[in-house]
Amino acid sequence: MSGTTTQGPQETRIFAPSAAFAAQAAVAGMDAYNALCAEAAADYEGFWARLAKEHLDWQTPFTRTLNEDNAPFYQWFEDGKLNVSYNCLDRNLQNGNADKTAIIFEADDGTATHVSYRQLHEKVCKFANGLKARGIKKGDRVIIYMSMSVEGVAAMQACARIGATHSVVFGGFSAKSLQERIIDAGAVAVITADEQLRGGKRLPLKAIVDEALGLGGCDSVKDVIVYRRTGGDIAFKAGRDLWLHELVDGQSADCEPEWVEAEHPLFILYTSGSTGTPKGVQHASGGYLLWAALTMKWSFDIKPSDVYWCTADIGWVTGHSYIAYGPTAVGATQVVFEGIPTYPHAGRFWETVAKHKVSIFYTAPTAIRSLIKASDVDPKVHPKNFDLSSLRLLGSVGEPINPEAWMWYYTQVGGEKCPIVDTFWQTETGGHMITPLPGATPMVPGSCTLPLPGIMTAIVDESGQDVPNGQGGILVVKRPWPSMIRTIWNNPERFKTSYFPEELGGKMYLAGDGAIRNKDTGYFTITGRIDDVLNVSGHRMGTMEIESALVANPLVAEAAVVGKPDDTTGESICAFVVLKQARPTGDEAKKLALELRNWVAKEIGPIAKPKEIRFGDNLPKTRSGKIMRRLLRVLAKGESITQDVSTLENPAILEQLKETS
Ligand code: WT7
Repeated sequence: MSGTTTQGPQETRIFAPSAAFAAQAAVAGMDAYNALCAEAAADYEGFWARLAKEHLDWQTPFTRTLNEDNAPFYQWFEDGKLNVSYNCLDRNLQNGNADKTAIIFEADDGTATHVSYRQLHEKVCKFANGLKARGIKKGDRVIIYMSMSVEGVAAMQACARIGATHSVVFGGFSAKSLQERIIDAGAVAVITADEQLRGGKRLPLKAIVDEALGLGGCDSVKDVIVYRRTGGDIAFKAGRDLWLHELVDGQSADCEPEWVEAEHPLFILYTSGSTGTPKGVQHASGGYLLWAALTMKWSFDIKPSDVYWCTADIGWVTGHSYIAYGPTAVGATQVVFEGIPTYPHAGRFWETVAKHKVSIFYTAPTAIRSLIKASDVDPKVHPKNFDLSSLRLLGSVGEPINPEAWMWYYTQVGGEKCPIVDTFWQTETGGHMITPLPGATPMVPGSCTLPLPGIMTAIVDESGQDVPNGQGGILVVKRPWPSMIRTIWNNPERFKTSYFPEELGGKMYLAGDGAIRNKDTGYFTITGRIDDVLNVSGHRMGTMEIESALVANPLVAEAAVVGKPDDTTGESICAFVVLKQARPTGDEAKKLALELRNWVAKEIGPIAKPKEIRFGDNLPKTRSGKIMRRLLRVLAKGESITQDVSTLENPAILEQLKETS
């Protein structure tokens, strides 16, 4: 099993939610949690139907809750109609939130702008009318390649309003990655910005879009809509490119929402798998929004007076469910942050919490670990120097949080009074799956504890049989749930084989993670991916993708990529490379390693750069020619090989690959 390991289920410290927190919580106490679980167990469809009626506004009510006829292509609320943007915006105009701040935009340079629900609604309607004026309509796919901005959120909501399916591509992906996604999605338009601002630096966006479209195969794209963020110098192609301010100029501030079927694809989001190219994870409208809204209440205990801040980027699923959709669906006030945690100093997060009186803060373990390190180096950026008294709940997402980081977050950031929700979920699950409920579940550092009510997670062995608590196995979900992935865009077959493998009976959702439950509490601890997917700083990457990028370089004959445990980033990328020329050493190896790292950045994006590259005359292979990654993982860690290597064709190669270039 690869991946980061956590403390494991033997951790014994337990932190119960405070009585004060529990008293006001949406799910108050374990009895309330157990009652919801019992309701789901007794009448699964009735449970979800009740919640979908209570938490969403339907233009046409649904009569059928779950359709399993074409399993595993499950359908939820299929004959109901709704509009996601109506639920996120118009609803707030009607229920007294019109003048409430929807977004506090905290710019890279520290400038803050408040946008009310009324203003956001107007922005989205004009944007949506502008898209319609360009002929973009229900079912069309629109790529959004933008940095963190009000306009980025508005672009997503505008697509939802007219029934266009968006696909947000993280602004750190390369032109080639962007091109692949444009082609796979068959996008008719790209929404971007001139440049993005991060850590005081200007980084290109529009220029990368131009490059992507120039790579060819993108004839479906008719419009490129550009938000002016920096005013930087960019090229404009007449007839294709259009400024956002010109698109919306003169458009009406009202836009009748397009009422779509609950199953209408709201978005496609590309994510890495263990093989092949990234998968376009397709999400529906109704079930997805239900879960985004409901988990805001259950997991984050969101209240009207909260100031909520999720530090993720809209390019990842966290930024979809817990920035663009969940918070707006429940009428929350949220901070949208353009910058990075270390600019202008590594106390930026805490300074921003104090500045906007943030009460709910949601971030990734990598960020926490790097800020712990930063405050060891420079005590001025330690959280104790900032007024964090507004905080009442903390969240963690994207990777296992090690108990040390958990304790620091709990004591130094949360002042021992804030529950921490360690939320386990995935791009494919649409929203939280396993997490403590802040007013109910006693917390154990490093454990995501128990599944949310209605989420039927289990741990099984390779034949799909349940394993007893205390024994590790494969994490699965035994029943469909509303916000689950619907299919892989353009590839229903891959959807079936990736997530509902026959070996497990074809009916269980395979998460791709290993897990173990504590013998006494039944709490889940995620032990890391069981496939060839890496998690670097909470970013998901396929080893195959990086290998393909490496072998695309004319110098490279063969490459194998593995993950190596890393104190800050969880895992780091280590690549073993065989060149077509003789194995380089010394300065030559250093130079070539640098060249290949930059090559990968250009092929995929800087986040996929191997931290380490080692050169060999060959790779360790079995006599049948299979690369033994298991051994490479041991070598990457710098450990010596104790395993039996008698099946190896070329054991001598292991010596060579111990060396870092
Ligand atoms: C993978 C999913 C969750 C949204 C952002 C990442 C790992 C995620 C946790 C957690 C342990 C976690 C898993 C999962 N992961 N959250 N709380 N504890 N591991 O979404 O890019 O689809 O990655 O992230 O390995 O499979 P993603």
